[in-house]
Amino acid sequence: MKITFLGHAGFLIEGSKKIAIDPFLTGNPAAKNNPKDIKADLILVSHGHGDHLGDTIEIAKQSKGTVVSVNELAIFCSNKGANSHGMHIGGSHVFDGIKIKLTPAWHGSGFGDECPLEYLGTPCGFVFNLDGKTIYHSGDTGLFGDMELIGRLNKIDLAMLPIGDNYTMGPEDALEAVKMLKSGLVIPMHYNTWPLLKQDPLKFKTEVESNTGSKVTVIAPGESLEF
Ligand code: NI
Ligand code: MN
Repeated sequence: MKITFLGHAGFLIEGSKKIAIDPFLTGNPAAKNNPKDIKADLILVSHGHGDHLGDTIEIAKQSKGTVVSVNELAIFCSNKGANSHGMHIGGSHVFDGIKIKLTPAWHGSGFGDECPLEYLGTPCGFVFNLDGKTIYHSGDTGLFGDMELIGRLNKIDLAMLPIGDNYTMGPEDALEAVKMLKSGLVIPMHYNTWPLLKQDPLKFKTEVESNTGSKVTVIAPGESLEF
């Protein structure tokens, strides 16, 4: 399968099905892709913050794809005219052969920038299987001990983890996450989009590869890797 980093926490995974995750392109200073070019059968959205919900509605409409998220955010997307499927933490569902399970994430999920914010349920992460590979996208989260459980219950081939600090785990906590998840490959995300999130992903790669059995691949926004 082909994995394209859309920048920030966004990915497009193209195998037997196309899965977009947190496609934030419009207004993303790091993004290289045009949202009009993104086609996805499933659009997984981790929470209601603008840097994750992003271009979800447009991409869902133009692709006739389905938004998958926690129930509150799924209802929000339905009201904006997108097909959506609501789930909740700990629940799984099989979408045309792809099993997706929602995992916890320690974060917020208020939509908008005017008070009162519209609250769109709890944030989440995703574990899913595509073409024989198990992929975990943590969403925005701090480090939590139940990642050990996620790593024990799933043989994770690829984990996308934030390293940007301030709003999420920083690199030191992300290293601890990798130790618990034991994923084959790690792609760092949610860094260097803005100066506040400045991190050195190659330093993270060195730390992870010298302290765990996992590999780290750093990909620039707009670039892809075969997996
Ligand atoms: Ni967020
Ligand atoms: Mn974020």
